[in-house]
Amino acid sequence: MLNQKILQLAPEEQIYHPNLSFSARANVRDAQIYERAGANFEEFWAEEAQKLHWFRPWDKVLEWQSPFAQWFVGGKINACYNCIDRHLEGWRRNKAAIIFEGEPGDQLVLTYQDLYREVTKFANVLLGMGITKGDPVTIYMPMIPQVVIAMLACARIGAPHSLVFGGFSSEALRDRINDAESKVVVTADGVWRRGKSIPLKQNVDTAVAECPSVQKVVVVQRTGAETQMDADRDVWYHDVMKAAPSGCKPEIMDAEDILFILYTSGTTGRPKGIVHTTGGYLTAVASTHRNIFDLKEEDVYWCTADVGWITGHSYLVYGPLANGTTVMLFEGAPDYPERDRFWEVIEKYKVSLFYTAPTAIRLFMKWGEEWTNKRDLSSLRLLGSVGEPINPEAWLWYHKNIGKENCPIVDTWWQTETGSVMVAPLPGITPTKPGSATMPMPGVSVDVVDEMGEPVERGGTGYLVITKPWPSMLRTVYKDPQRYADTYWSRFEGMYFTGDGARKDEDGYIWVQGRVDDVINVSGHRIGTAEVESALVEHPAVAEAAVIGRKHELKGQAVSAFVTLREGIAWAPELEKDLKSHVAKKIGGLARPEEIICAWELPKTRSGKIMRRLLRDIAEGRVLGDTSTLADPTVVKQLLNQKTAL
Ligand code: PRX
Repeated sequence: MLNQKILQLAPEEQIYHPNLSFSARANVRDAQIYERAGANFEEFWAEEAQKLHWFRPWDKVLEWQSPFAQWFVGGKINACYNCIDRHLEGWRRNKAAIIFEGEPGDQLVLTYQDLYREVTKFANVLLGMGITKGDPVTIYMPMIPQVVIAMLACARIGAPHSLVFGGFSSEALRDRINDAESKVVVTADGVWRRGKSIPLKQNVDTAVAECPSVQKVVVVQRTGAETQMDADRDVWYHDVMKAAPSGCKPEIMDAEDILFILYTSGTTGRPKGIVHTTGGYLTAVASTHRNIFDLKEEDVYWCTADVGWITGHSYLVYGPLANGTTVMLFEGAPDYPERDRFWEVIEKYKVSLFYTAPTAIRLFMKWGEEWTNKRDLSSLRLLGSVGEPINPEAWLWYHKNIGKENCPIVDTWWQTETGSVMVAPLPGITPTKPGSATMPMPGVSVDVVDEMGEPVERGGTGYLVITKPWPSMLRTVYKDPQRYADTYWSRFEGMYFTGDGARKDEDGYIWVQGRVDDVINVSGHRIGTAEVESALVEHPAVAEAAVIGRKHELKGQAVSAFVTLREGIAWAPELEKDLKSHVAKKIGGLARPEEIICAWELPKTRSGKIMRRLLRDIAEGRVLGDTSTLADPTVVKQLLNQKTAL
């Protein structure tokens, strides 16, 4: 029972109960689901898996040899078949699978039958290029229907896809292609951004020049930008699709065959290839999508995440399509041509389920209600949040101005590694508190533990861990199982360490507080401090660099860099600009530091460790904590002077 206080509470302290008419129709109405799933999590997940189509049933639900898991052992399945073919038998065949609107306002609707045709044709294109089961294909694309077609075509033939977010630089792309050793890269000429065509193919050309594995590049014509084509290597998507036959037998995949690899930042400079397999992943994303978003046949569901991130994989493509959803796919920015573009899309297509990130909500708050009030948002019936902690003010604004106090908000905590949502309310039964992702999903065991791995008492703060295996857990780091074991399973015995800190309140609710490792969360995107540091020290002017995440009003966190320069180099505004562009070129625009502070020395302990806590205090303008362990206390004074001079 929730700890209800009798006192008058401020809105952010109040508990928001599901409204009765919503609860009465909700997919999950029985709160017993938590206990039932908790009593036998394997049985719970097996029931969820039954809702998919299997070519062969599994022999065993879970084989757990910590930290390596196999789910639905012996089961045979195909993710593409589940996302398309099984919807073709009845009337759903003619249901819109994807409603696309591009930035310039172009529209395209693909029914499930259309999707079948396009996907099987592209699967035949890939097969024709010699791609077979197990060959990773890299996809570097804008938010256009062909990206979904390419993903599902890979899944159909058993080729793991590796999506690289279109905002990543050519160097980041090169490293990811090389790690996956892809033979084929799928891309587009460009992407529309605020009326301009931003080139993508050029980045691919630069990257592929240093990728010996790549034999073919398939290019979708999106913006019509002038594009160099290598006669031996490059082909236009529309040309190869013209010749391709439709219809392609789905590869019979083992439940544990790889569905995709997705690279994410960690605490070292090298991004990790997170490996997700087929049966368990699909089970968990379909189940959580149905339950958290209370999916109904007639819903129009819109997830604004880019398909290049895990949210796009799980809740734009696999979860929704496995459930036969009508998915809105939108290419543009929220403020082009005007700041009501998102609300215009909702009004126009009568979107009913809307899933976005706190960073976007804060931006909308800043723009003000004049934009939200211009549009009819009455089709909405549920709102979601993902990517970073949502501050109560943003939650309340979302609730009032977008949800009109009538839509439950599901704040969903999860990670690239977890594959599916781990902590979130079930909208028909779980009371919510602004800023808390509430409680673990049924069948998922999450806890907050102290330094020793002991669960903290209610009211305590500690590290967020997952205590039992779950079907969509990452299986390994691509080609590096040791790194998998070390990164996730060595901090606490027998538990998966998330890298996040959290508080467990008096009611047992979980309040995720953000990363406790060297990962920065900028606008819901993960950036490793080590990646930015190594980019900075590769610049000839830089001797040493330390990077931290500091609080940022809109982005949640911003990248703040501290550098020392090589002998004879003088600090100048041009150099700061140059260093920022250098980082953007090495990694991508999202990693560009907000500011770079030049120091003659970085604050270090006597043993030579950079004191990041101090740098964070400096960057956030806080009173400095203990500086007595510094090797040279005068360093701090100089840094503070630098900061105030900015
Ligand atoms: O710090 C947590 C934060 O995002 C991290 C995972 O980032 P990524 O793998 O890129 O996946 C993002 C989308 C699932 C987490 O370790 N995070 C994500 N969702 C939330 C969150 N923090 C608080 N509340 C959330 N709802």
